[in-house]
This record gives sequence, C-alpha cells and structure tokens, in this order.
Amino acid sequence: MPGVLATNLAGLELANPVLLAAGTAGTLDEMADAIDLSRVGGIVTKSITPQPREGNQPWRVVPLESGMLNAVGLANPGLESFVKEYAPRIANLPTRVIGSIAGFSIDDYVQVAAAMNAIDAIPAVELNVSCPNVHKGCEFAADPELLTELIREVRAVLTHTRLFVKLSPIPTGKVTMTDIARAAVDIPNSSPVGPCKRPGADALCIANTTPAMAIDVRTRKPKLGRITGGLSGPAVHPMAVKLVFDVHRNFAKASNTPIIGIGGVLTWEHAAEFILAGATAVEVGTGLFADPKSPLKIAKGLESWVRDQRVANIASLIGAIDTGENQPR
Ligand SMILES: Cc1cc2nc3c(=O)[nH]c(=O)nc-3n(C[C@H](O)[C@H](O)[C@H](O)COP(=O)(O)O)c2cc1C
Repeated sequence: MPGVLATNLAGLELANPVLLAAGTAGTLDEMADAIDLSRVGGIVTKSITPQPREGNQPWRVVPLESGMLNAVGLANPGLESFVKEYAPRIANLPTRVIGSIAGFSIDDYVQVAAAMNAIDAIPAVELNVSCPNVHKGCEFAADPELLTELIREVRAVLTHTRLFVKLSPIPTGKVTMTDIARAAVDIPNSSPVGPCKRPGADALCIANTTPAMAIDVRTRKPKLGRITGGLSGPAVHPMAVKLVFDVHRNFAKASNTPIIGIGGVLTWEHAAEFILAGATAVEVGTGLFADPKSPLKIAKGLESWVRDQRVANIASLIGAIDTGENQPR
C-alpha cells in the first residue's frame, strides 16, 4: 500500500516528495553514510559535464547569516567516469536517481543526455541550464528561444528518460519566469518523445541559486575566489515559493506540468509551502549542510501535516493554497 506521501512526478513513482538537490549530496550516493537513502524520494546527482572539471579556485563555499554562497563551478568527474564508476551502482540504490546534466553548448547537453538515456536505472534527467558560477552558465535560462532550441535537441535523444529543466530564479530583461517555463515545455513543431510523450520538458525545477556576492570589508576582497556566486538557503526560500506559485498559476497547472520546488527547504513547513504553492516535489540542498538528516525529518513532518489536513494524500495539497481570492469582499 503506498503511503500518504507517495508521489507521482511526471509518471515517476516516488516514495515521498523529498529529493536531495543537485551538487549538495556528492556525485551520487555519498549521503548513504549519513542517512538511509530508502527514506528519501530520490537523489539528484552532481551536474555531469562531458569532460571532468576541477571547478573554481577557493574559496568556493561561504556561510552567511541568510544562507550559503557558493561558486563551486560544476566540479564533477566527467561523463566517462560517471558512466564507468558511478552508473553501475545506481540500480542497487534503494531510491530514485535523477541525473543532472550541465554543459556549455547544445552538443555538451546532448552528449550527456544520450549517455544517461542509455542507463536504464536513470528514469529522469534534470537539465541544469541555470548555474550562476561558470561563464555563460545561465545563458540558456535567460533566453526563451535558445532554451527551446536546446530542449528540442535534448528531448530527441531522451527516448526512455523524463526531462526536467532547472530554471534560474532570475530571468533577465523583459522575460518573465512564465515565459521561460513555457519555452522549456511548449516546443513548436516537435514530436512527443520519452515516457511522458511530450515535446519538451516533463517537469520544471524552480530554482537554482540566485546570483550574489559577499565582501570581506577588512581585506576589501570578495569572499569567493570567483568574486561572485550563487545564494541558497533561507534567504531564497520566499522568492522561490513565489516563483513556483506564479508559474503554477500562470502556466503549469493548465499544461499539467509538474514543478519541483527548490530553495531553502530546511523544515517540513518550507516543503509544505512549496506544495501549497503548486510543487509536486521538493529538493533539499543547503538543508543537508545544516543537518544531513533533515530530509528524513522533513518527510516525517509532511506525513503528519497530510493527516492533520484530513486529506487522503499529499497530492491533494498540491496548489491547494487558500488565497481567499474567490471569496466575496
Ligand atoms: C555547494 C552547492 C553546489 C551546488 N551544485 C549544483 C550543481 O552541480 N547542479 C545544480 O543544478 N545545482 C547545484 N546547486 C544548487 C542546488 O541544487 C539548489 O538549486 C540550490 O542550492 C537551492 O536550494 P537550497 O536552498 O535548498 O540549497 C548547488 C548548491 C550548492 C549550495
């Protein structure tokens, strides 16, 4: 019997909606040292690029009162090592694995996507088009036309694998978050491909870190080696909740596109806010640094919340925020 937290994410059955966020839980299953992985809904891998990457020079992670600032710069073992050394373990892991992909060109993304599509134990990939910590890391997330072109090419090779697209919290210029979300999902003149038979993304991940910086006023030096980086944790949470709410209300609900809420989930209440705003699942990143066991506590808290709300399961609470807008004033 599935529990009250059992979640269907674009046709993918998860034991619960709490996932470990890309880049915050090692390359694959390193968190098994700290927690029982069967008790999280899934793991998102470190973003994998075609070639291995050392990442940026130190300092790469700086704690702030409001959260965490990082400029890791996509350090990862590269595709070949991922396929040879990590992928064989995936089928034996007691949870779902979502493969995160990063790149600097459409070819980069397509190459890694094709390799992940060939790994049966990876049912979904998350396209990181929104890394603020590398040169042009947010290029695709800021330009709807470019994003549509990328999704079209990647979608074509993902014949067996769901496609999730991780957006930046800050679309630039006149583009809104809904424009970017639509560009990832509605791909004109494209054939439906993959398990969900859709022409574009099967789910949207909202969002990556927010471009930010911090300065040591005594030395007058930036605190990060790369000067600027990405902010995560409590400071970004209310902003991410609004982005999920906006995209769900303006586009995702009508187009039946699930959303994964990401940003500052440290407690079950933070996760519940995302669910009420319209998310189907959440990812925990900075929360793992504060308390590696937080995903388990979050899942437990969500379970009590679902019972207190007197609904059959957590799916009944997706987008169930009561804004009072329908009531007479
Ligand atoms: C140290 C660190 C490394 C990260 N590496 C990646 C990465 O490789 N790929 C990615 O898509 N996001 C990466 N992120 C972003 C997280 O997955 C997440 O989107 C962000 O931290 C917001 O969630 P949080 O507030 O729960 O941390 C990283 C975040 C941190 C703090």
